Amino acid sequence: MTMTGQQSEARPADAGTAPLHVAIIMDGNGRWAKRRGLPRTFGHREGVKALKRTVEGAAAVGVGRLTVFGFSTENWRRPAAEVSELMGLLKAYVSSDLERLAKEGVRVTILGRREGLSPDVLEVIERAERRTAENTAFHLQVAFNYGGQADIVDAARKFAKAVEEGRAKASDLDEALFERSLSTADAPPPDLIVRTSGERRLSNFLLWEGAYAELVFQDVLWPDYGPEHLKAAIAEFATRERRYGGAMVDDVLAAG
Ligand code: IPE
Ligand code: IPE
Ligand code: MG
Repeated sequence: MTMTGQQSEARPADAGTAPLHVAIIMDGNGRWAKRRGLPRTFGHREGVKALKRTVEGAAAVGVGRLTVFGFSTENWRRPAAEVSELMGLLKAYVSSDLERLAKEGVRVTILGRREGLSPDVLEVIERAERRTAENTAFHLQVAFNYGGQADIVDAARKFAKAVEEGRAKASDLDEALFERSLSTADAPPPDLIVRTSGERRLSNFLLWEGAYAELVFQDVLWPDYGPEHLKAAIAEFATRERRYGGAMVDDVLAAG
């Protein structure tokens, strides 16, 4: 890849008219299961059903792009059996839903590090991306073995390599060029980041891309989530005034 400075295509959506990019930290599967006296893995299985419902209902509530956090670079710290269940669920989700998503015009991309994933997981990821590459009706990004810090480090490595090989100069680097090396380079930044379960932190999700995202925290546990909750998050988003560092619209108008 030749690195050249170029205007970024990543532009915030025009709130109210353009389809929104919503990113969701799907949290609370373990607590959902615990409340029922069930093993955590049951919560993850119910979580996949919530994901299906939410993807199905997203377009109807004005969403054109959905990014979901399925497995973080820190989630390897969990017991091996739970990690293996989460890997299996990604495979099962792709196997059961890929054809339908593909026919509905959904483009599926997987964000995150490929190193560390087993060959069978890599195979489903590549199959999903290849099968849906031409689709444009809706974009589903699944962050899997994803960490915002790891993604930034990987992008920095790519640029450093280009400098080492004489394809770029350090002074070429700016925000627009840098973000083209992130795993999210194909998509505009999220308008809204939602986290379920009541936790109020990003847990290493979309650190760069979320710079100007609105944040909405919902107290519902992920397995209980569905399009009605997404609709409520978007209603909250609609009350926000996004300023991107500028002045408040009312103050600008008052100043003439
Ligand atoms: C989210 O639910 C799913 C993943 C992180 C993979 P959790 O498993 O984190 O559920 P809690 O936070 O323990 O309730
Ligand atoms: C973030 O949730 C990761 C995913 C939802 C995939 P975690 O449950 O792993 O985050 P912490 O540990 O509560 O910060
Ligand atoms: Mg959690």
